[in-house]
Amino acid sequence: MLCSNINLENKTVLVTGAAGFIGSNLVKALFNSFNQVTVIGLDNMNDYYDVKLKEFRLNEIESLSECKCGASWQFIKGNIADKQLVDSLFEKHKFDVVVNLAAQAGVRYSIDHPDTYIESNIIGFYNILEACRHFPVEHLVYASSSSVYGTNKKIPYSTEDKVDNPVSLYAATKKSNELLAHAYSKLYNIPSTGLRFFTVYGPAGRPDMAYFSFTNKLIKGETIKIFNFGNCKRDFTFVDDIVEGIRRVMLCAPEKKIGEDGLPLPPYRVYNIGNSSPENLLDFVKILSEELLLAGVLPQDFDFDAHKELVPMQPGDVPVTYADTSDLERDFGFKPSVSLREGLRKFASWYKEFYM
Ligand SMILES: NC(=O)c1ccc[n+]([C@@H]2O[C@H](COP(=O)([O-])OP(=O)(O)OC[C@H]3O[C@@H](n4cnc5c(N)ncnc54)[C@H](O)[C@@H]3O)[C@@H](O)[C@H]2O)c1
Repeated sequence: MLCSNINLENKTVLVTGAAGFIGSNLVKALFNSFNQVTVIGLDNMNDYYDVKLKEFRLNEIESLSECKCGASWQFIKGNIADKQLVDSLFEKHKFDVVVNLAAQAGVRYSIDHPDTYIESNIIGFYNILEACRHFPVEHLVYASSSSVYGTNKKIPYSTEDKVDNPVSLYAATKKSNELLAHAYSKLYNIPSTGLRFFTVYGPAGRPDMAYFSFTNKLIKGETIKIFNFGNCKRDFTFVDDIVEGIRRVMLCAPEKKIGEDGLPLPPYRVYNIGNSSPENLLDFVKILSEELLLAGVLPQDFDFDAHKELVPMQPGDVPVTYADTSDLERDFGFKPSVSLREGLRKFASWYKEFYM
Protein backbone atom coordinates (compact mmCIF):
# COMPACT_ATOMS: atom_id res chain seq x y z
CA MET A 1 0.00 0.00 0.00
CA LEU A 2 1.14 3.55 -0.68
CA CYS A 3 1.12 5.95 2.27
CA SER A 4 -1.08 9.00 1.94
CA ASN A 5 1.07 12.13 1.77
CA ILE A 6 -1.72 14.72 1.59
CA ASN A 7 -4.07 15.73 4.39
CA LEU A 8 -7.08 17.63 3.09
CA GLU A 9 -8.00 19.23 6.44
CA ASN A 10 -7.75 23.02 6.00
CA LYS A 11 -6.90 22.59 2.34
CA THR A 12 -8.52 24.05 -0.77
CA VAL A 13 -9.62 21.69 -3.51
CA LEU A 14 -10.77 22.59 -7.02
CA VAL A 15 -13.26 20.17 -8.56
CA THR A 16 -14.04 20.92 -12.20
CA GLY A 17 -17.25 19.41 -13.56
CA ALA A 18 -18.66 19.78 -10.03
CA ALA A 19 -22.28 19.86 -11.24
CA GLY A 20 -21.66 16.68 -13.21
CA PHE A 21 -22.55 13.15 -12.17
CA ILE A 22 -19.18 12.07 -10.75
CA GLY A 23 -18.06 15.56 -9.70
CA SER A 24 -21.11 16.27 -7.54
CA ASN A 25 -20.80 12.90 -5.80
CA LEU A 26 -17.11 13.56 -5.18
CA VAL A 27 -17.81 16.97 -3.60
CA LYS A 28 -20.37 15.40 -1.25
CA ALA A 29 -17.90 12.65 -0.30
CA LEU A 30 -15.23 15.28 0.47
CA PHE A 31 -17.60 17.11 2.80
CA ASN A 32 -18.52 13.82 4.49
CA SER A 33 -14.87 12.81 4.93
CA PHE A 34 -13.10 16.03 5.95
CA ASN A 35 -14.20 18.59 8.51
CA GLN A 36 -12.24 21.63 7.46
CA VAL A 37 -12.04 21.45 3.72
CA THR A 38 -12.75 24.22 1.21
CA VAL A 39 -14.10 23.05 -2.12
CA ILE A 40 -14.40 25.31 -5.14
CA GLY A 41 -16.62 23.80 -7.84
CA LEU A 42 -16.30 24.94 -11.44
CA ASP A 43 -18.76 23.91 -14.15
CA ASN A 44 -20.10 25.59 -17.29
CA MET A 45 -23.56 23.97 -16.81
CA ASN A 46 -23.78 23.09 -20.50
CA ASP A 47 -26.98 21.58 -21.87
CA TYR A 48 -25.52 18.34 -23.27
CA TYR A 49 -28.23 16.82 -21.06
CA ASP A 50 -31.02 18.21 -18.87
CA VAL A 51 -29.59 21.11 -16.84
CA LYS A 52 -32.23 20.44 -14.13
CA LEU A 53 -30.20 17.38 -13.13
CA LYS A 54 -27.09 19.54 -12.68
CA GLU A 55 -29.11 22.03 -10.61
CA PHE A 56 -30.50 19.17 -8.48
CA ARG A 57 -26.95 17.93 -7.79
CA LEU A 58 -25.77 21.44 -6.87
CA ASN A 59 -28.72 21.83 -4.49
CA GLU A 60 -27.76 18.57 -2.79
CA ILE A 61 -24.18 19.84 -2.34
CA GLU A 62 -25.45 23.17 -1.02
CA SER A 63 -27.68 21.49 1.61
CA LEU A 64 -24.90 19.15 2.71
CA SER A 65 -22.27 21.90 2.96
CA GLU A 66 -24.64 23.94 5.16
CA CYS A 67 -24.75 21.06 7.69
CA LYS A 68 -20.96 20.80 7.86
CA CYS A 69 -19.83 23.68 10.02
CA GLY A 70 -16.11 23.60 9.12
CA ALA A 71 -16.60 23.00 5.40
CA SER A 72 -16.69 25.73 2.82
CA TRP A 73 -18.26 25.48 -0.63
CA GLN A 74 -18.26 27.90 -3.52
CA PHE A 75 -19.64 27.27 -6.98
CA ILE A 76 -18.40 29.13 -10.04
CA LYS A 77 -20.18 28.89 -13.38
CA GLY A 78 -17.45 29.00 -15.98
CA ASN A 79 -15.58 27.23 -18.75
CA ILE A 80 -12.19 25.52 -18.28
CA ALA A 81 -11.44 26.56 -21.86
CA ASP A 82 -11.44 30.18 -20.62
CA LYS A 83 -7.72 30.56 -19.81
CA GLN A 84 -8.10 33.91 -18.07
CA LEU A 85 -10.80 32.57 -15.75
CA VAL A 86 -8.81 29.42 -14.91
CA ASP A 87 -5.63 31.41 -14.20
CA SER A 88 -7.48 33.92 -12.04
CA LEU A 89 -9.08 31.14 -9.96
CA PHE A 90 -5.71 29.44 -9.40
CA GLU A 91 -4.10 32.74 -8.50
CA LYS A 92 -6.87 33.68 -6.07
CA HIS A 93 -7.46 30.35 -4.30
CA LYS A 94 -3.98 28.74 -4.40
CA PHE A 95 -5.45 25.25 -4.78
CA ASP A 96 -3.73 22.42 -2.93
CA VAL A 97 -5.39 19.64 -4.91
CA VAL A 98 -7.16 19.81 -8.28
CA VAL A 99 -9.55 17.16 -9.60
CA ASN A 100 -10.36 17.73 -13.26
CA LEU A 101 -13.61 16.00 -14.15
CA ALA A 102 -14.99 18.65 -16.53
CA ALA A 103 -15.09 17.24 -20.03
CA GLN A 104 -17.39 16.60 -22.91
CA ALA A 105 -18.27 12.98 -22.24
CA GLY A 106 -19.90 10.40 -24.51
CA VAL A 107 -18.50 8.32 -27.33
CA ARG A 108 -21.35 8.58 -29.82
CA TYR A 109 -21.87 12.34 -29.50
CA SER A 110 -18.21 12.87 -30.46
CA ILE A 111 -18.91 11.53 -33.96
CA ASP A 112 -21.13 14.50 -34.87
CA HIS A 113 -19.94 17.16 -32.38
CA PRO A 114 -16.13 17.15 -32.46
CA ASP A 115 -15.64 20.86 -31.63
CA THR A 116 -16.87 20.63 -28.06
CA TYR A 117 -14.46 17.72 -27.34
CA ILE A 118 -11.49 19.74 -28.55
CA GLU A 119 -12.62 22.80 -26.59
CA SER A 120 -13.31 21.13 -23.23
CA ASN A 121 -11.09 18.06 -23.26
CA ILE A 122 -8.01 19.42 -25.03
CA ILE A 123 -7.93 23.23 -24.62
CA GLY A 124 -9.64 23.06 -21.21
CA PHE A 125 -7.27 20.40 -19.91
CA TYR A 126 -4.25 22.28 -21.29
CA ASN A 127 -5.41 25.37 -19.35
CA ILE A 128 -5.60 23.30 -16.16
CA LEU A 129 -2.07 21.97 -16.73
CA GLU A 130 -0.70 25.44 -17.44
CA ALA A 131 -2.35 26.79 -14.29
CA CYS A 132 -0.85 23.91 -12.25
CA ARG A 133 2.52 24.86 -13.70
CA HIS A 134 2.27 28.54 -12.75
CA PHE A 135 0.44 28.05 -9.44
CA PRO A 136 1.87 24.73 -8.19
CA VAL A 137 -0.47 22.19 -6.61
CA GLU A 138 0.27 19.18 -4.41
CA HIS A 139 -1.64 16.84 -6.70
CA LEU A 140 -3.55 16.99 -9.98
CA VAL A 141 -6.04 14.13 -10.42
CA TYR A 142 -7.91 13.93 -13.74
CA ALA A 143 -10.48 11.74 -15.44
CA SER A 144 -9.40 9.51 -18.25
CA SER A 145 -11.57 6.69 -19.56
CA SER A 146 -11.73 2.98 -20.33
CA SER A 147 -12.39 4.07 -23.93
CA VAL A 148 -8.61 4.52 -24.38
CA TYR A 149 -8.39 0.71 -24.69
CA GLY A 150 -10.31 0.88 -27.99
CA THR A 151 -10.91 -2.58 -29.41
CA ASN A 152 -7.96 -4.20 -27.61
CA LYS A 153 -8.39 -7.97 -27.59
CA LYS A 154 -6.50 -8.76 -24.39
CA ILE A 155 -8.71 -8.67 -21.30
CA PRO A 156 -8.85 -7.59 -18.55
CA TYR A 157 -7.50 -4.21 -19.65
CA SER A 158 -4.31 -3.26 -17.84
CA THR A 159 -2.63 0.14 -17.65
CA GLU A 160 0.44 -1.71 -19.01
CA ASP A 161 -1.40 -2.41 -22.30
CA LYS A 162 -0.76 -0.46 -25.48
CA VAL A 163 -3.48 2.16 -26.02
CA ASP A 164 -2.50 3.76 -29.31
CA ASN A 165 -5.59 2.88 -31.34
CA PRO A 166 -8.56 4.98 -30.18
CA VAL A 167 -11.82 4.29 -32.06
CA SER A 168 -13.53 7.59 -31.19
CA LEU A 169 -12.51 11.24 -30.89
CA TYR A 170 -13.60 11.10 -27.24
CA ALA A 171 -11.10 8.29 -26.58
CA ALA A 172 -8.39 10.19 -28.48
CA THR A 173 -8.92 13.27 -26.27
CA LYS A 174 -8.69 11.16 -23.10
CA LYS A 175 -5.48 9.47 -24.24
CA SER A 176 -4.15 12.94 -25.16
CA ASN A 177 -4.86 14.09 -21.59
CA GLU A 178 -2.64 11.31 -20.28
CA LEU A 179 0.15 12.26 -22.71
CA LEU A 180 -0.08 15.96 -21.88
CA ALA A 181 -0.11 15.21 -18.15
CA HIS A 182 3.00 13.04 -18.56
CA ALA A 183 4.88 15.82 -20.35
CA TYR A 184 3.86 18.40 -17.73
CA SER A 185 4.77 16.04 -14.87
CA LYS A 186 8.19 15.51 -16.40
CA LEU A 187 8.90 19.12 -17.40
CA TYR A 188 7.46 20.94 -14.40
CA ASN A 189 7.48 18.24 -11.71
CA ILE A 190 3.68 18.33 -11.31
CA PRO A 191 2.41 15.27 -9.41
CA SER A 192 -0.46 13.92 -11.52
CA THR A 193 -2.68 10.84 -11.46
CA GLY A 194 -4.99 9.88 -14.34
CA LEU A 195 -7.99 7.66 -13.62
CA ARG A 196 -9.53 5.49 -16.31
CA PHE A 197 -13.18 5.11 -15.25
CA PHE A 198 -15.27 2.20 -16.50
CA THR A 199 -19.00 2.79 -17.35
CA VAL A 200 -20.10 4.70 -14.26
CA TYR A 201 -23.79 4.54 -13.26
CA GLY A 202 -26.01 5.47 -10.32
CA PRO A 203 -28.71 7.83 -9.00
CA ALA A 204 -28.89 11.24 -10.73
CA GLY A 205 -26.51 9.91 -13.35
CA ARG A 206 -26.15 10.82 -17.00
CA PRO A 207 -29.28 10.52 -19.14
CA ASP A 208 -27.18 9.77 -22.25
CA MET A 209 -26.02 6.45 -20.77
CA ALA A 210 -27.85 3.19 -21.53
CA TYR A 211 -29.33 2.43 -18.09
CA PHE A 212 -30.87 5.94 -17.92
CA SER A 213 -31.93 6.36 -21.56
CA PHE A 214 -33.43 2.82 -21.62
CA THR A 215 -35.51 3.74 -18.56
CA ASN A 216 -36.67 7.01 -20.16
CA LYS A 217 -37.69 5.15 -23.33
CA LEU A 218 -39.42 2.25 -21.58
CA ILE A 219 -41.67 4.48 -19.50
CA LYS A 220 -42.76 6.22 -22.73
CA GLY A 221 -43.53 2.81 -24.24
CA GLU A 222 -40.71 3.16 -26.80
CA THR A 223 -38.39 0.38 -27.98
CA ILE A 224 -34.81 0.16 -26.73
CA LYS A 225 -31.97 -0.71 -29.11
CA ILE A 226 -29.43 -3.24 -27.84
CA PHE A 227 -26.25 -2.90 -29.87
CA ASN A 228 -24.10 -5.68 -31.35
CA PHE A 229 -27.20 -7.90 -30.96
CA GLY A 230 -26.54 -7.95 -27.21
CA ASN A 231 -23.06 -9.44 -27.62
CA CYS A 232 -21.37 -6.63 -25.69
CA LYS A 233 -19.97 -6.70 -22.20
CA ARG A 234 -19.56 -3.68 -19.97
CA ASP A 235 -17.74 -3.33 -16.69
CA PHE A 236 -20.49 -1.31 -14.94
CA THR A 237 -19.10 0.58 -11.94
CA PHE A 238 -21.32 2.13 -9.28
CA VAL A 239 -20.64 5.83 -8.71
CA ASP A 240 -19.89 5.41 -4.96
CA ASP A 241 -17.05 3.02 -5.85
CA ILE A 242 -15.62 5.52 -8.35
CA VAL A 243 -15.80 8.32 -5.80
CA GLU A 244 -14.14 6.22 -3.09
CA GLY A 245 -11.36 5.44 -5.56
CA ILE A 246 -10.86 9.14 -6.43
CA ARG A 247 -10.92 10.11 -2.74
CA ARG A 248 -8.18 7.64 -1.86
CA VAL A 249 -6.06 8.54 -4.87
CA MET A 250 -6.31 12.30 -4.11
CA LEU A 251 -4.55 11.76 -0.78
CA CYS A 252 -1.56 10.10 -2.32
CA ALA A 253 0.42 12.14 -4.83
CA PRO A 254 3.19 10.42 -6.83
CA GLU A 255 6.49 11.29 -5.21
CA LYS A 256 8.90 13.80 -6.75
CA LYS A 257 12.24 12.14 -7.48
CA ILE A 258 15.34 13.14 -9.39
CA GLY A 259 16.64 10.81 -12.09
CA GLU A 260 20.26 9.87 -12.91
CA ASP A 261 20.41 12.76 -15.39
CA GLY A 262 19.67 15.25 -12.57
CA LEU A 263 16.23 16.03 -14.03
CA PRO A 264 12.89 15.16 -12.40
CA LEU A 265 11.45 11.68 -12.97
CA PRO A 266 7.82 12.38 -13.85
CA PRO A 267 5.66 12.10 -10.70
CA TYR A 268 2.97 10.48 -12.81
CA ARG A 269 0.57 7.55 -12.46
CA VAL A 270 -2.47 6.11 -14.21
CA TYR A 271 -4.99 3.65 -12.72
CA ASN A 272 -8.10 1.81 -13.85
CA ILE A 273 -11.17 2.17 -11.65
CA GLY A 274 -13.75 -0.42 -12.70
CA ASN A 275 -15.81 -3.18 -11.18
CA SER A 276 -13.67 -5.90 -12.79
CA SER A 277 -16.79 -7.93 -13.44
CA PRO A 278 -18.18 -7.30 -16.94
CA GLU A 279 -21.86 -8.01 -17.56
CA ASN A 280 -23.43 -9.06 -20.81
CA LEU A 281 -25.81 -6.36 -22.13
CA LEU A 282 -28.79 -8.73 -22.22
CA ASP A 283 -28.23 -9.66 -18.56
CA PHE A 284 -27.85 -5.97 -17.72
CA VAL A 285 -31.20 -5.20 -19.41
CA LYS A 286 -32.82 -8.09 -17.51
CA ILE A 287 -31.57 -6.83 -14.14
CA LEU A 288 -32.53 -3.23 -15.00
CA SER A 289 -36.04 -4.30 -15.98
CA GLU A 290 -36.49 -6.33 -12.80
CA GLU A 291 -35.37 -3.42 -10.65
CA LEU A 292 -37.61 -0.94 -12.51
CA LEU A 293 -40.59 -3.24 -11.83
CA LEU A 294 -39.62 -3.63 -8.18
CA ALA A 295 -39.34 0.15 -7.68
CA GLY A 296 -42.70 0.69 -9.39
CA VAL A 297 -41.14 2.74 -12.22
CA LEU A 298 -42.82 0.37 -14.70
CA PRO A 299 -46.13 -1.49 -14.29
CA GLN A 300 -45.99 -5.14 -13.14
CA ASP A 301 -47.45 -6.41 -16.44
CA PHE A 302 -44.87 -4.55 -18.60
CA ASP A 303 -43.88 -6.63 -21.65
CA PHE A 304 -40.09 -6.18 -22.03
CA ASP A 305 -39.65 -8.48 -24.97
CA ALA A 306 -42.02 -6.33 -27.00
CA HIS A 307 -39.83 -3.25 -26.32
CA LYS A 308 -36.41 -4.72 -27.15
CA GLU A 309 -34.68 -4.54 -30.53
CA LEU A 310 -31.33 -6.22 -31.20
CA VAL A 311 -29.29 -4.09 -33.65
CA PRO A 312 -25.73 -4.14 -35.12
CA MET A 313 -22.68 -2.47 -33.58
CA GLN A 314 -22.43 1.36 -33.76
CA PRO A 315 -19.33 3.27 -34.93
CA GLY A 316 -17.12 4.20 -31.96
CA ASP A 317 -18.48 1.37 -29.80
CA VAL A 318 -16.35 -1.43 -28.41
CA PRO A 319 -17.48 -5.02 -27.74
CA VAL A 320 -16.08 -5.35 -24.23
CA THR A 321 -14.71 -3.32 -21.32
CA TYR A 322 -13.09 -5.10 -18.40
CA ALA A 323 -10.82 -3.43 -15.84
CA ASP A 324 -7.74 -4.97 -14.30
CA THR A 325 -7.72 -3.15 -10.95
CA SER A 326 -4.78 -4.96 -9.35
CA ASP A 327 -2.67 -1.75 -9.22
CA LEU A 328 -5.48 0.11 -7.43
CA GLU A 329 -5.83 -2.75 -4.94
CA ARG A 330 -2.07 -2.95 -4.40
CA ASP A 331 -1.56 0.80 -3.88
CA PHE A 332 -4.80 1.81 -2.15
CA GLY A 333 -6.21 -1.43 -0.69
CA PHE A 334 -9.41 -0.74 -2.56
CA LYS A 335 -11.49 -2.54 -5.15
CA PRO A 336 -14.98 -1.52 -6.36
CA SER A 337 -17.52 -3.95 -4.95
CA VAL A 338 -21.11 -2.76 -5.50
CA SER A 339 -23.01 -5.35 -7.58
CA LEU A 340 -24.95 -4.30 -10.67
CA ARG A 341 -28.25 -5.31 -9.05
CA GLU A 342 -27.54 -3.34 -5.88
CA GLY A 343 -26.51 -0.26 -7.89
CA LEU A 344 -29.44 -0.42 -10.32
CA ARG A 345 -31.80 -0.81 -7.34
CA LYS A 346 -30.51 2.52 -6.00
CA PHE A 347 -30.88 4.11 -9.44
CA ALA A 348 -34.46 2.82 -9.87
CA SER A 349 -35.57 4.08 -6.47
CA TRP A 350 -33.98 7.50 -7.10
CA TYR A 351 -35.64 7.66 -10.56
CA LYS A 352 -39.07 6.90 -9.07
CA GLU A 353 -38.68 9.67 -6.50
CA PHE A 354 -37.23 12.25 -8.90
CA TYR A 355 -39.50 11.81 -11.91
CA MET A 356 -42.76 10.22 -10.75
N1 LIG B 1 -19.62 8.43 -16.43
C1 LIG B 1 -18.80 7.58 -17.01
O1 LIG B 1 -19.17 6.42 -17.29
C2 LIG B 1 -17.38 7.97 -17.34
C3 LIG B 1 -16.51 6.97 -17.82
C4 LIG B 1 -15.20 7.31 -18.14
C5 LIG B 1 -14.75 8.61 -17.95
N2 LIG B 1 -15.62 9.56 -17.51
C6 LIG B 1 -15.10 10.93 -17.33
O2 LIG B 1 -15.38 11.36 -16.02
C7 LIG B 1 -15.61 12.77 -16.00
C8 LIG B 1 -16.94 13.08 -15.36
O3 LIG B 1 -17.95 12.40 -16.11
P1 LIG B 1 -19.49 12.44 -15.73
O4 LIG B 1 -20.07 11.12 -16.08
O5 LIG B 1 -19.66 12.98 -14.38
O6 LIG B 1 -19.99 13.47 -16.82
P2 LIG B 1 -20.93 14.78 -16.67
O7 LIG B 1 -21.19 15.22 -18.07
O8 LIG B 1 -22.08 14.48 -15.80
O9 LIG B 1 -19.97 15.79 -15.92
C9 LIG B 1 -19.09 16.66 -16.57
C10 LIG B 1 -19.42 18.07 -16.13
O10 LIG B 1 -18.45 18.94 -16.70
C11 LIG B 1 -19.09 20.10 -17.16
N3 LIG B 1 -18.28 20.63 -18.27
C12 LIG B 1 -18.15 20.11 -19.51
N4 LIG B 1 -17.31 20.87 -20.23
C13 LIG B 1 -16.89 21.88 -19.42
C14 LIG B 1 -16.04 22.99 -19.58
N5 LIG B 1 -15.44 23.23 -20.75
N6 LIG B 1 -15.83 23.82 -18.53
C15 LIG B 1 -16.46 23.60 -17.34
N7 LIG B 1 -17.31 22.58 -17.14
C16 LIG B 1 -17.52 21.73 -18.16
C17 LIG B 1 -20.47 19.68 -17.58
O11 LIG B 1 -21.42 20.74 -17.49
C18 LIG B 1 -20.77 18.56 -16.59
O12 LIG B 1 -21.54 19.03 -15.50
C19 LIG B 1 -15.49 13.23 -17.45
O13 LIG B 1 -14.18 13.67 -17.66
C20 LIG B 1 -15.76 11.95 -18.24
O14 LIG B 1 -15.15 12.01 -19.51
C21 LIG B 1 -16.92 9.27 -17.18
